Order: sequence, then structure tokens, then C-alpha cells
Amino acid sequence: MIFVIVSTLSSLTFVCKEFVGKMERKLKNIKWQPEYEFHIKVIDESHRKLVDLINRLTEMINRQACPENMSEIFFSLIHYAEHYLIREEILLRDLGYPQLDQHKEKHHFFIEKIKSFREKFSSENPDICRDLYDFLSEWFQNHVLKYDKEIITFLKKKGIS
Ligand SMILES: [Fe+2]
Repeated sequence: MIFVIVSTLSSLTFVCKEFVGKMERKLKNIKWQPEYEFHIKVIDESHRKLVDLINRLTEMINRQACPENMSEIFFSLIHYAEHYLIREEILLRDLGYPQLDQHKEKHHFFIEKIKSFREKFSSENPDICRDLYDFLSEWFQNHVLKYDKEIITFLKKKGIS
């Protein structure tokens, strides 16, 4: 019996330490890498803007100052979507990019997701900052660094720099 109690207590201590460790672990900023640079002004500008935005969110989360500053993040995200994503689409449309519809669909998904985060935020979901951070980091890794690469080859062939 005593063994069971001691063993349960030590497991609980372990779980608590793990939890506290996770809470204290700071998120890391994204450091701009040379391989993120595609040498196409419009695209690089858009990607730098997004990295800057994710880093601002990261700092807010680390300072535990996120929820009260979320309107600023949403404002920047909407500007990013309306300005940079649309500019990318216009450029691709003007040059006759064959997979434009598929690419636009991905952007549409991003915009809808941001809208739904904003709605959830209005209803005061406390995990919103971290969930948004996870979504944006994933978008950066998968859309920006992988999917956008496909349009780079096309744009370079068209002589865009
Ligand atoms: Fe894109």
C-alpha cells in the first residue's frame, strides 16, 4: 500500500515538473535564413512581413502579453492577407500561372482560418494565441517554404526578379 502511494506521488511530481517546464519554455523567434530568400522582390517582401508578424506574436506569448494585444496582430494579419497575398495572386494572374486557382484556394483557406481565429478570440478563448502561433508557423513551413517555391520557378522563367 505504502509503495503504491509513494509511487503515485512520484509520478505526480514528474507530471507536474513536465507541465511547469512546458509552461516556462519560451518559444523561439524565426531567424531569417539565406534559403528563405527567393530573390523575387514581391515574394521576399511578403515572406519577411509574415516572419516579422510571427515573431511579434512569439514575443507577446513569451511576455504573456498576448490576449490584450491580439487586435494589433489581427490587424497586421488582415493587412498581410489583403495586401501581400492578393498582390501575389494578381501577379500570377497577369502572367498566366496555370495553377492559379489551386494557389488561390490555399490563400482562401488561410484567410478563412484567420477569420475563424478572430471570431474565437471575440468569445475569449484563452488558448487562441498559442493556436494562432501554431497555425502561422505551420503556414510558414508548408505554404511559404514549400508551396510558394513552385511559383518561384514560374516567376523566374517569366523574368520576374
Ligand atoms: Fe502563396
